[in-house]
Amino acid sequence: MNIAVPKETHPGEERVALAPETVKKLAKAGFSVAVEAGAGKPAFFSDESYKEAGATVEGDYAKLLGSADMVLKVAPPVTGGGRNEVAAMKEGAIFIASLQPLRNLEPVKALQERKITAFSTDAIPRTSRAQAMDTLSSMANIAGYKGALLGAVEMNKYYPMLMTAAGMVAPAKVFVIGAAVAGLQAIATAKRLGAQVTATDVRPEVKEQIESVGAKYVGIELKADASAGGGYAKELSEEDKARQREMLVAQCAQVDVVITTALIGGIFAPKLINKEMVMSMKAGSVIVDLAADGGGNCELSKPGETVVTENGVTILAPLNLAATMPTHASLLFGRNLLNFITTFAKDGAFVLDLNDDIQAGALITHEGQVKHARTKDALEKSGAMAAR
Ligand code: NAI
Repeated sequence: MNIAVPKETHPGEERVALAPETVKKLAKAGFSVAVEAGAGKPAFFSDESYKEAGATVEGDYAKLLGSADMVLKVAPPVTGGGRNEVAAMKEGAIFIASLQPLRNLEPVKALQERKITAFSTDAIPRTSRAQAMDTLSSMANIAGYKGALLGAVEMNKYYPMLMTAAGMVAPAKVFVIGAAVAGLQAIATAKRLGAQVTATDVRPEVKEQIESVGAKYVGIELKADASAGGGYAKELSEEDKARQREMLVAQCAQVDVVITTALIGGIFAPKLINKEMVMSMKAGSVIVDLAADGGGNCELSKPGETVVTENGVTILAPLNLAATMPTHASLLFGRNLLNFITTFAKDGAFVLDLNDDIQAGALITHEGQVKHARTKDALEKSGAMAAR
């Protein structure tokens, strides 16, 4: 089976779907891999290193995609600006990427019309069997790590407690809101740097996980269960929201850095930090809003920008943080893809088995239809399907 890896051309996207290490493993499993010339350059993988790993390198993207049975990307396919990746693909080919279909309805529609079998890695079920394929976790881990570092860099103080010849300095206080993959990594990283870390979440099972990475749990007793199943949270009741707000005001006022990672259903960012809370924070403190891709957890965040408030709080709202560490991000993303592909590979080919829960969960389009229920609903609501 021929696999193609095109260049990522979305602004700021430095990752590539496969690192040379992964190409080697796919070649060993019987796949032929072709990479677009320069695809690995932003992640510091040369064309030469892909050739050494057994890939061919192709300069013409349309030729590359036209001869592929399977196309691997990080971001959704590009369909404009003089480059139409969907049109270049063979009808019936397999496409795998972090499609984020609910945020990218137009590319989904293009894949459907071209009769591409598209899998989105972010729709892979969060089960133990699928853990090694989970790009959401790999990328959230990077975001959590980098978010804690950004907080440290932006802050006007040390993270650790230091005993110096000039006397002692107290450790910084870091507060993490939302403690799933990104949040737990942010806690662990801030902790390793010596900060005093507190954290909160609305799912009760997370308390133990927060404590296991060295932070103190702070939270409220919820009146209504906030678990939505599958490890995701649902929106809090109005009563619980009000009680959580009181707790957040008290915490935010005490700390030097707030790192927010809260998401509902893995996609929507609840506005947890309002203007009043920011105004109660100390001058010089920092908010790192890691939910910026979903709109942000802080009312004053401007996704992709840094804001400094009148009371001296710096609010960072970085987008696509995983792309800022492209070497490891590509390595891990590619390993997740490798695990997905080889789980279903036989004699150097990917075998479709839409009865399998992982394939069925990740499937977005197939044979001219949208198969992912939430995406189908969103398309219908947007009128994109009705207009056809
Ligand atoms: P996420 O990015 O969807 O959500 C982040 C966190 O925000 C969640 O812990 C959520 O409870 C929390 N949150 C939502 N509203 C909040 C509020 N008002 N206040 C405070 N916190 C709030 O989470 P992620 O990283 O995608 O993980 C989702 C689930 O999937 C987790 O339970 C995780 O353990 C599980 N998981 C399972 C995997 C597997 O088995 N393959 C792999 C990775 C994650």
